[in-house]
Formats: sequence, structure tokens, C-alpha cells
Amino acid sequence: MSLVVHASKYGSARRYAEWIGEGLAAPVVAADGVRADRLAAEDLVVLCAAIYGPQLRGSDLLRDAMRQGTATRFVLVTVGLSDPALTTKRDELVAAKLDAPLRERLEVVHLRGAMDRDRLTFVERSMMAGIRTALAAKRDRTAEDQAMLDVLEPVRVDLTDRAAIAPVLETCLR
Ligand SMILES: Cc1cc2nc3c(=O)[nH]c(=O)nc-3n(C[C@H](O)[C@H](O)[C@H](O)COP(=O)(O)O)c2cc1C
Repeated sequence: MSLVVHASKYGSARRYAEWIGEGLAAPVVAADGVRADRLAAEDLVVLCAAIYGPQLRGSDLLRDAMRQGTATRFVLVTVGLSDPALTTKRDELVAAKLDAPLRERLEVVHLRGAMDRDRLTFVERSMMAGIRTALAAKRDRTAEDQAMLDVLEPVRVDLTDRAAIAPVLETCLR
């Protein structure tokens, strides 16, 4: 049996999880409503995990489930605003959360999420404003910097895309 888990705050990782769940005809649950041993009892687990700075939501649950050492296949889908074609930061974040023996057993796909500045907490909004100001003030912006600035400028950005789940489904059905 397969299970799709979302560790989402504002809903974009959850949207991907629901699309993937439909594609796999698998149930979809929230990370905070499920235990590691339930994950470790499945044949296949897909975790859609939102990125918040140094935080990869749901990574503790994933680590605990993988450490149970069952034959479960784990697929991690990171959901963030950065462009995975322009940065390796997401792989670095995954490496910071899961050690090499676990990463060897993990398949990872990076997808792009959404953000509505009006829905953020004061602290989150301030963090984003700080990043935006720093990037805007930078003289020699890299392609990665410019791409990040472009997505942080509008109040609302939505890069979620149902078609983007194709590589996740391919990985799962392999
Ligand atoms: C405070 C904060 C920090 C963030 N940090 C990152 C980041 O380091 N890298 C990234 O790609 N996206 C980052 N994002 C964007 C989120 O990952 C993106 O909005 C994602 O779609 C959120 O998922 P959710 O809607 O499921 O909560 C950040 C967003 C906020 C509000």
C-alpha cells in the first residue's frame, strides 16, 4: 500500500500531496496526524515537505520512519519557492536533515510552491522583507538571486503546477 503525507503550513505542499494521491490512488494524510511506524509499514511513502529557511517540515517524521529499517520506499518532495534548476540549496537542506545512509535510500524531487505575503505571520513577513531588501541591494546578483527576487516582489506568487508532479509519479511507479 502507498501513503502520501504532507507537511505544509499554508497549503501548497498539501495541494501537491493531493494531486499525487489522486495520481497514485493513495490516501493522503497530514504529517502531524500520522506516526513514524505507520509510515514504515507501507510499501511506498511520498512526503511533500514545505521549506521554511533552515526547516524542512516533516523531516523528523521521515527520519524516524526511515530509521525503522523496513522495506518501505520513501520519496521526498520538497516544496519551496527557489528554482531547483538554479540552486543546490535544497539538496544541501536535505543533506542537513538526513544522513548519507538514509539519503541513499531516498528518492528526492523538488517542486515549486506558492506564497501570499498577506497570509504570513509578522515574523515571516519581516524575514521575507529582509531577504527582498538584501537581494535588491545586491550589485552582482546571480541568476539564483534574481529569480528569488522576482518571486518575492509580488504580494502573491503561485508556482504550483499539477503537471510538475509527473516526475514524482514516474519515480513512484518505477
Ligand atoms: C519564512 C519563510 C521562509 C522560506 N524559506 C524558503 C527557503 O529557504 N527556500 C525556498 O525555496 N522557499 C522558502 N520559502 C517559501 C516556501 O517554501 C513556499 O512558500 C512553500 O510553498 C510553502 O509551502 P506551504 O504552502 O505548504 O506551507 C519560505 C517561505 C517563508 C514564509
